[in-house]
Amino acid sequence: MTAIRLDGKRIAGEIREDVAKDVAQFVASGGPKPCLTAVLVGEDPASQVYVRNKSRACEKAGIDGRTMRLPAETTQAELLSVVQGLNDDPAVHGILVQLPLPSASNGGNGGEGFDERQILDAVDPLKDVDAFSPVNVGLLMQGRHRFLPCTPHGIVQLLHRCDISASGKHVVVVGRSDIVGKPMAMMLAQRDGSCGKEVANATVTIAHSRTTNLKQVCLSADILIAAVGVPEMITGDMVADGAVVIDVGINRVNDKLVGDVAFDEASQKASAITPVPGGVGPLTIAMLLHNTLMAAKLQS
Ligand code: GUN
Repeated sequence: MTAIRLDGKRIAGEIREDVAKDVAQFVASGGPKPCLTAVLVGEDPASQVYVRNKSRACEKAGIDGRTMRLPAETTQAELLSVVQGLNDDPAVHGILVQLPLPSASNGGNGGEGFDERQILDAVDPLKDVDAFSPVNVGLLMQGRHRFLPCTPHGIVQLLHRCDISASGKHVVVVGRSDIVGKPMAMMLAQRDGSCGKEVANATVTIAHSRTTNLKQVCLSADILIAAVGVPEMITGDMVADGAVVIDVGINRVNDKLVGDVAFDEASQKASAITPVPGGVGPLTIAMLLHNTLMAAKLQS
């Protein structure tokens, strides 16, 4: 079997066009121009690229995409005060603190390293377009979400728009991060997902670095979602014939971007697979725009 390539880039383009139309309508009906402010601490090159891409995507959708650049040496107290200032600014609808914050060895928080959790906890839940705050995580857990975290929401949109149903299927999520693995599992297991029943009601297994017999667990997946951050860790022999494979990884190896899935091998087994780049990555930004518009609507 040779897998169908799931074109996340094209679907993200469709979502971005829809958001741009909704933004124009919202502003035409008297709403404020939605505004996202990204907070970028330090000089990490990958984070700089991500933040620039987010800001450009905002502008294309008619959203004000601002970036606050702070030196790595910024203290925890100073960063908390910046977040508080954005919480209090009525012109800012969405706040995104770009992760990772600089480590102690990169001079973060004057060389002591940041308490990332405390910073994320300080973001006003109504402006928390990443959906990382405990309030928004809790609402998702209870099935009454306001914002959905961008990467798993993008994957749900991809499945929905490619007519791939997760209902009743066994989904294996490899990776248990707060950003992708945990919320992804929760969204797919919900009674009603954000796109209706067809991408919810899955039977979900979360696998991780301590899972015994990972290969057998992966082979039992109808839908296999890899979000581990290890280049090409999911090899072809871990993919069941006809499975759908979603690759969340973006790893730079010898100046080339590769996913968490060995694409060529896995494509021989899967019925459908996302490429890297051009798969899940573009959807994350599209859903961030969606959340920023939603934040502006919630605050108006
Ligand atoms: N770093 C990598 N992914 C993300 C994300 O989705 N949001 C934020 N704020 N930082 C990230």
